Amino acid sequence: GSLVWDDVVLTAAHCQGAPFDSGVLVGPYILNTLSSDAEFIDVQRQVPHHSYDSITEAYDFMLVKLENPVINPNLMPIAVNSLKENPMSNDVLTVIGFGTLLEGSSNWSNQLQEVNVNYIDYETCDSLYNGDIVDSVMLCAGVPGGGKDSCQGYSGGPIFDQQGTQIGVVSWGLGLARENFPGVYSLVSGARVLIDATLSHIS
Ligand code: ARG
Repeated sequence: GSLVWDDVVLTAAHCQGAPFDSGVLVGPYILNTLSSDAEFIDVQRQVPHHSYDSITEAYDFMLVKLENPVINPNLMPIAVNSLKENPMSNDVLTVIGFGTLLEGSSNWSNQLQEVNVNYIDYETCDSLYNGDIVDSVMLCAGVPGGGKDSCQGYSGGPIFDQQGTQIGVVSWGLGLARENFPGVYSLVSGARVLIDATLSHIS
């Protein structure tokens, strides 16, 4: 997930449940490791998007309300894109997360990983995925030939532009880093009204 308010984390609805039951570690670079710049905060509640559809994965968003706001001023919330315009085709986006590094592998990296991928426009991606991309709530990103992608375990994490504004949430993909099967992300601009409404309600 990503911190979007001092006491709210934005993540994926399909991550709902156990991963958030105990609490959230905000700011670690090493998985499950409480360093001096990370804080462990209990979770008050999980609010999945009311339109989340686990078959199509449309509206794969969830807000997680923390019991307390972060204290460390270095743990700053990320800006969340509110512009209806999507990124431009081929714009560089950065995705970060913890998880596996290869399709089919069960080796998890404990180090926070980061990779740059290119935005792929809706029409191109929807034809690659045979019509499974839900316009206005999903976006795709990958590189020609494959080989760079978010991976298993990255779900719920942010993909952001070169200004550091969050554009999407890691959601799904066919395999990992396959040619012509880019990563699919929930498009935050498609849920911005709901995110704002929920934020003002719960935070
Ligand atoms: N669903 C996966 C997770 O729960 C993320 C998969 C992302 N797939 C991709 N090809 N980018 O961690």
